Amino acid sequence: MSEEQFQKVANKDDLKEGGMLKVEANGKQIVLSMVEGKVYAIDEICTHEQGPLHEGELNGYDLKCPWHYAVFDVRNGKVSDATVWATNLNSYVVKVDETSGDILINPNGKKM
Ligand code: FES
Repeated sequence: MSEEQFQKVANKDDLKEGGMLKVEANGKQIVLSMVEGKVYAIDEICTHEQGPLHEGELNGYDLKCPWHYAVFDVRNGKVSDATVWATNLNSYVVKVDETSGDILINPNGKKM
């Protein structure tokens, strides 16, 4: 994976612990989240009926869709076994520049 694939999408100051932020990379809607100081990136659009996941609820690593409450793990985009009406989301590799606080992601997502 080469360096230039990574794109700056936000700064750590834009996010707070337990918070979420909607960003865009290569025309894809992505939601960033911060859990225990670490930043994660998964698709922002729910795989069920396109609910806006950044408007959902984050509980630990579980992100709950605001529309029909499918639950996804922000670490890997995997849907919970309890909410099988949705399918897995893409997750994206995140890098944080510790000097500037810039958040960079690789827009080539992966599904579990
Ligand atoms: S749109 Fe997300 S659970 Fe239905």
